[in-house]
Amino acid sequence: MPNLKVKVGRLELQNPVMPAAGTFGYGEEYASLIDLNRLGAIVTKGISLAPQEGNPPPRIWETRGGMLNSIGLHNVGIEQFAQQKLPVLRRFKVPVIVNFFGFTIDEYVAAARRLSALEGVAALEANLSCPNIKAGGIHFGSTCISVIEITKKLVKSTNCAIIIKLSSQVSNIKEIVLAAEGEGAEAVTLINSVPAMAIDLDREKPVLGGVTGGLTGPAIKPIALKAVWDAASSVKIPVIGAGGIMDYRDAVEFLMAGATAVQVGTANFIKPTTMVEIIEGIDAFLEQRGLKNIREIIGSAQL
Ligand code: SIN
Repeated sequence: MPNLKVKVGRLELQNPVMPAAGTFGYGEEYASLIDLNRLGAIVTKGISLAPQEGNPPPRIWETRGGMLNSIGLHNVGIEQFAQQKLPVLRRFKVPVIVNFFGFTIDEYVAAARRLSALEGVAALEANLSCPNIKAGGIHFGSTCISVIEITKKLVKSTNCAIIIKLSSQVSNIKEIVLAAEGEGAEAVTLINSVPAMAIDLDREKPVLGGVTGGLTGPAIKPIALKAVWDAASSVKIPVIGAGGIMDYRDAVEFLMAGATAVQVGTANFIKPTTMVEIIEGIDAFLEQRGLKNIREIIGSAQL
């Protein structure tokens, strides 16, 4: 059996496959559909200090080749997460990565402090890339100055591994990932959804309640792959690739482009067993090629 183990910062994962935040609820919702213990890690939806109502409906819209979402980071808040959601996740043996956000830098820092004190949180993924809120998210992830400031404060304020989740909607992704690495981020995740929208012809109005949203699914895979390629050639820390991964072949493309691990998002809505099939597919791919270790394909696509 090929060795699928990878290291993401200080985390040791049994394989490189995990859900993308916001596509897998708090993890427990999928526990009756797939064996969560098969995953490399569980990634929760984004958590904030206080509960959030999110954006008005409709929040999800299917498009050609993808899906729009404008959830607005609806979540139960840290205290309910700590009391009701995390205890369920602690029953599984895979590391739990908690995605989190704030509307100000101080809120990011306070959330990171509180979350890192909770038993069973293996790493924190800071969402600096959500396109669906008026403050926070992508507003903090689009310039080197803000990425430097927030990463520095997060790393100082907690002993937990900090992963920075970034958008492709920046002028120079290489500079942004270098900024995160320089301030002590242990990994970066690329990419979040791509800002987008749809119009309802009959109502002559935007479809989504939040007006604009983020595009995910196969339509954005080539954009995500390029971002991962650029990032992986710029930094030494691991890059977690996300964006339109639907099957093991997509996942292998991301690994070959330099991703150490991959996140699966939209595919979870279509077929909840996709991540397990991807793990099995990567395993079979390596075996067919006579490769013993997944490391042999990470970054193997070279000029
Ligand atoms: C949302 O909650 O609107 C999506 C989350 C994200 O894009 O980070």
